[in-house]
Order: sequence, then structure tokens, then C-alpha cells
Amino acid sequence: MLEQRCAFDIDAWTRFTQGTDIVALVALTSIHWRESWKYGERAFRYCQHDLGHAIAAIRIAAALAGCRAALVPEWPQRDIAALTGLDRDEDYVDAEREEPGCLMVVSRKSLAVGRESSHQPPITSHLVAAVRGGTWSGRANQLSENHVTWSFIDEIARATEDPGRAASPIHLPTDPTTHLPNSSLLLQRRSAVALDGRSSMSAAGFFAILAATLPSSGPPWDALWWDARIHLLLFVHRVDGLEPGLYLLPRNPAAVDRLKAAIGRAFDWTPVVAALPLVGLVQGDCRALAQRLSCNQEIAADGFFSLGMIADFDASLAEFGPSFYRHLFWESGVVGQVLYLEAEAAGARGTGIGCFFDDPVHDVLGLIGHAFQSLYHFTMGMPIDDTRLTTEPGYAWEVKTENWKVTTEDRS
Ligand SMILES: Cc1cc2nc3c(=O)[nH]c(=O)nc-3n(C[C@H](O)[C@H](O)[C@H](O)COP(=O)(O)O)c2cc1C
Repeated sequence: MLEQRCAFDIDAWTRFTQGTDIVALVALTSIHWRESWKYGERAFRYCQHDLGHAIAAIRIAAALAGCRAALVPEWPQRDIAALTGLDRDEDYVDAEREEPGCLMVVSRKSLAVGRESSHQPPITSHLVAAVRGGTWSGRANQLSENHVTWSFIDEIARATEDPGRAASPIHLPTDPTTHLPNSSLLLQRRSAVALDGRSSMSAAGFFAILAATLPSSGPPWDALWWDARIHLLLFVHRVDGLEPGLYLLPRNPAAVDRLKAAIGRAFDWTPVVAALPLVGLVQGDCRALAQRLSCNQEIAADGFFSLGMIADFDASLAEFGPSFYRHLFWESGVVGQVLYLEAEAAGARGTGIGCFFDDPVHDVLGLIGHAFQSLYHFTMGMPIDDTRLTTEPGYAWEVKTENWKVTTEDRS
């Protein structure tokens, strides 16, 4: 499906990448209508979740190709629109408009070099000008007719527009165990539509999955320029050797005291295992609760565990401005993508859950206001296959992977 949209002056690109290891820029965009036809107002969130999943997928794909990939914080959203032609009204006459999301830089190794050079305004604007003045081809096609207008989505998109920012590098703990999933796991990843309500997983397996969600200096976490803002509220149902109940995994030690202060209910806060910052809040069967909170979806109760991703909300927006609202969803999407892949690696299956009731989740913890805010849910367990469905290979070209290198070399 790859198309060339614009041919532009190569000198601008050479100037942009000079003295860096930059291989490519990847811009991610959303068409809100692709989600809002189904989800209405909540679609803005789903688009941001999806961007987070895609950021993780690109970071991991880059790693498998021996490259780095990271979000570029400096580019204003307006420039990303220009770079991708999203602001070309003439190409969207009948079609739904597209919203710029984020820009990732793919580089051979040293990301620091790529970052420094990518935010020098004269070079950036030179590239944008060259693209604007390039030769464009192609037009967006209309997805459907008879749109429902969800004006709230346009309002929130404008209110959270990213002006770009200078971000200082963060220092993540080096994770010597960072391992890349093998590509077959990446390609087989699917969502469970039903879980069996019986199977359990080992505590060791559960802890390994939680460990994989903690930020480190490896992929995909090194694609994000901020320190972790998403914490996990776990509804444990079937983990051998671990009492069912509510658990909390703070993913950033800097947030623990504020989490404790914000959580209004009296909980145990019992450390569970030395290797993880996991604490037990309260024991008990929380299957019905988890199901109810996730729009009564049985998958939230029928797995090993499900979880709510609790964002460090007010403080993050105060620190980085309104556009960071989007970034919080992106981080939750990255966590979701890691969980999907961990589920496949464990021989199980996961499902992202965008449908949940925010305020009742907050009630469970006694959270008041927006200091912390539930943004995304996830569940994991043993899937029940729907025998009415036929599954075709997701990636037809993958059958020929072995020959792929040879074929491209042959062509060149
Ligand atoms: C952000 C997000 C939210 C989702 N929310 C739900 C949900 O609430 N309930 C559900 O059953 N599936 C949910 N899913 C799963 C999607 O339906 C599924 O990803 C989509 O149909 C594509 O199928 P695949 O994941 O198997 O490729 C969600 C997925 C994502 C990425």
C-alpha cells in the first residue's frame, strides 16, 4: 500500500540528516472518523491509544532492523501536518480530514545526535519548506458518507494541539534483560474476543510480564522522551500462588508518595516480591468488579488478570502543558502493546479495553479529582477460539520473508 505522496528537493533532506545517523522520519496520523463512527466522542481517546500501540510497534520493528526510533518532541503539530501534506485542503475535498499525531526519528544508532540536529529550527523549517514546495500526487479518498459530527472531538483536538517543545534527555535504568520479541510473535499478535474463565498462570510468569511493563533503557521505552506516568491497577483473578485481589504496580518511584496520598481508601500496601514495586491493596474475588468497570465485558473477569492504567494526570499536564494529554494515552498504548506481546510470548492472549467507566474506577481507589486518571484497560488469559471465524495469514508477504532480502537485492 506504500505510495509516494511528494517528491522534494533532496538537498533539504541531505542538509537535515547531515552529521547524524538519521535514516527516516516516520509521522503517525489519525482519522478520527475511523473511530468515531463507532465510539462517538470517546474516539479521540482511541486514536491516541492506537498511536501509542503504533509507536511501540515501530520502535520494536526498528530494533529488529538494527535501528533506533524515538519520538521527536520538538516538532510543532502544525509542521508535522505540513510535512505529511495533511494541511493540503485540495487533497481532501471529499475526504475526512486527518489529524497529525507524532513524529518519530529512525536512526542507525546514536539517537542523541539525531535529536540534537532535528530540533534546530532553521534546518527543520528548511525541510518543511522543501516539502511544501515539492511535487505532490494523490488524493485522500472518502471513507464513508452520512457523517455524524462529534464537535467535541475537534474541540479536544484543538485544545491539546502540540506546539512542540525542547525535551531534555531522560536517564532510564539500563535493563540487561531487554530482549526483543521474535518476529513470529509480532506477526501472530491478535486480540482475544473471549477468555476461558478457567486457566491460570504461574506467579513467576505473572511477575515476568509485570517486569516487562517497567520502563527501561531498551525498546520500546526508549522511544518516549518523558519518565513513566502510567501505573497499573491490577485485578488478579487466576495467578497460582497469589491471592486474588487488587494490586498496584507503580511504574515510577517518583509517583509513589503522591499515589499514596491520592488513594483515599485504606489499603494494605503489602509488598509482594522483592524484584518488583508491586503492592497488594486488598484480597478478594474481584472478577465481578473488574467486569462491571470494563463496561460489563466478560473478558475483564475471565482471564488471569485484568488491569486499569492510572495516569499521573494533573501534575503531568501542569508540567508539559495540555498537549501532554495525548502523550499520556500514547504511553498507555505502548504499555498495551508490550502486554499484547507478552501475552503471546506466554502462550496466552491479551485484549486492549478502551471501554470502561472512568469514575467508578476512581471510586475503587477513592481517587478524587484528576490527580490520577484511569486511561486504558487491558486483560490477559487463555483465549477461546470462535470457530465461526476463519483466520487468514495477516501478512501475506511474510510467507516469503526468507526470500525478501534476496528479492530486494535482485531488484536493485
Ligand atoms: C485502544 C484499543 C481499545 C480496545 N477496546 C476494546 C474493548 O473495549 N473491548 C474489546 O473486546 N476489544 C477491544 N479492543 C480490541 C480491538 O477490538 C482489536 O484490537 C481490533 O478489533 C483489531 O483486532 P486485533 O487486535 O486482533 O488485530 C481494543 C483495542 C485497542 C487497540
